[in-house]
Amino acid sequence: ASTLAAAAQQSGRYFGTAIAAGKLGDQTYTTIANREFDMITAENEMKIDATEPNRGQFNFSAGDRIYNWAVQNGKRVRGHTLAWHSQQPDWMRSLSGSSLRQAMINHINGVMGHYKGKIYAWDVVNEAFADGNSGARRDSNLQQTGNDWIEVAFRTARAADPAAKLCYNDYNIDNWNWAKTQAVYNMVRDFKQRGVPIDCVGLQSHFNSNSPYNSNYRTTIQSFAALGVDVQITELDIQGGSATTYANVVNDCLAVPRCTGITVWGVRDTDSWLGANASALLFDGNGNKKAAYTSVLNALNSA
Ligand code: G3I
Repeated sequence: ASTLAAAAQQSGRYFGTAIAAGKLGDQTYTTIANREFDMITAENEMKIDATEPNRGQFNFSAGDRIYNWAVQNGKRVRGHTLAWHSQQPDWMRSLSGSSLRQAMINHINGVMGHYKGKIYAWDVVNEAFADGNSGARRDSNLQQTGNDWIEVAFRTARAADPAAKLCYNDYNIDNWNWAKTQAVYNMVRDFKQRGVPIDCVGLQSHFNSNSPYNSNYRTTIQSFAALGVDVQITELDIQGGSATTYANVVNDCLAVPRCTGITVWGVRDTDSWLGANASALLFDGNGNKKAAYTSVLNALNSA
């Protein structure tokens, strides 16, 4: 196959990208995105600050622009993200305790209700664990509402849209030896044992010199999958853009049947949150395919 999406489809997987609504008028951007990818994540437009700028007043204009572009072009959509310590609107950041807990529940219901039946998978909870070696939860306003906030979010989400897969999504849970990975693994195992609804784990997979790709990545994917959840690589970028590392990531996903798809976090290097100099994506600033692109395509084709 000659595109990333078509190559991934050969093994029943998808290949996605993050899209910014403000770039949908850029024809180079949309041409590449439409040709190469079959799963779309809104880079910012379905986050809490975008969708509920005022308490109880939802705004889906930018999110819908991305959703409609995706569906009109035959693509599926990942929802990102419902409960997160970051990109909270001011009104939410000022809440605590039971009113914050209720606001989180209302937010999940409002956003998932709007997109009910339309989303492949939602990142229900994003980045809830601390960095470093503690294996603890991140100390956030949501965490301070009580340790059960994550399972409440997942139970709320299941009821709001039973058709969507429900994912826990995080960064630096790629290396199997890291405490943060083990902490998330233990939470997912506990959720499965107790019947808390969870369907997938999103490995963001932002690789850089501080959190480099490690060959135990395949063990991480296999281990989560063995708990009975899908694994999705949700925000892949590799600082420096190593073609070899990109191929390793793809091959590790392909080695695990429950690794159902890969999303890169942007189209061209100039679209990356890391800046163009990071050279972290598959297309250069002019929209040309990089060596990393060819290496990903070849890996997908040899599955
Ligand atoms: O749109 C405004 C613009 O009007 C304003 O002039 C400008 C001034 O700063 O800001 C613009 O908003 C920025 C927005 O991106 C759109 O470009 C925000 O400041 C900026 O904070 C925001 O960054 C996003 C970041 O999440 C925020 O947390 C990145 O685009 C986005 O790629 C990044 O994505 C996250 C995932 O959601 C979660 N995992 C990590 C990943 C990378 O940080």
